[in-house]
Amino acid sequence: MRRPIVAGNWKMHGSRAENARLVEELLAQAPAAPAADCVVCPPLVYLQEVGRQLRGSIYILGAQDVCADTQGAFTGEVSAAMLKDIGCEYVIVGHSERRLLYRESDQLVARKFSAAHSKGLVPILCVGEQLADREAGRTNEIVARQLDVVLELCGAGTLERGVIAYEPVWAIGTGRNATPDQAQEVHAFIRGRIAARDAKIAAATRILYGGSVKAGNAAELFNRPDVDGGLIGGASLKADEFLTILAAARPG
Ligand code: 13P
Repeated sequence: MRRPIVAGNWKMHGSRAENARLVEELLAQAPAAPAADCVVCPPLVYLQEVGRQLRGSIYILGAQDVCADTQGAFTGEVSAAMLKDIGCEYVIVGHSERRLLYRESDQLVARKFSAAHSKGLVPILCVGEQLADREAGRTNEIVARQLDVVLELCGAGTLERGVIAYEPVWAIGTGRNATPDQAQEVHAFIRGRIAARDAKIAAATRILYGGSVKAGNAAELFNRPDVDGGLIGGASLKADEFLTILAAARPG
């Protein structure tokens, strides 16, 4: 049985004051024994402070990105070891905003996955197609390519401590979520692709759905057999909505 994950990606939102308010609400409304792991990914500059505020709670600290290299002359970058050092346990890699806005290639994303994994972080690998790809019937092809580069470089075994997030680009921040059937179809495809290399790992890998998950649609998405929770953007900035989403995730 896979324990689900609900992860909040705050993206580039917040301030010290806003974060403090959000954290206060998250702590006040936290369930005593959630049925899912709950990860919170604030902007890099606030990681330490939010991490301190969340210490000892149900919430686990995650980062939104990491450098593929270990150390050295990489101005502006932050290494996996540094994230680990300040208490991060998870890190998102290959978010579509990074792939599209900052031109991150499949190869770079795979190196980030490897760097995070090798320093003991749990990488959350984001994959997903753009609208034109879906309309052209190329969803599986795109997702397979993004996944295969990581499996080739790192091996399926790394998914023992790794998570996949299927985030169709057309569903991110648009209010138009994938239907539960659409999500399930791609999640099953991803699991099958991993199973072709290692069936045991595939059965244990947690595959999250992301893209306009809200309090009102989380339960029907998470009820699908291959959907093991969600990666939440906008709705993770509202404590009550995020916690309603968390409550919708149950081991399947
Ligand atoms: P939204 O939930 O705002 O659509 O964002 C999803 C996302 O990109 C999470 O990483």
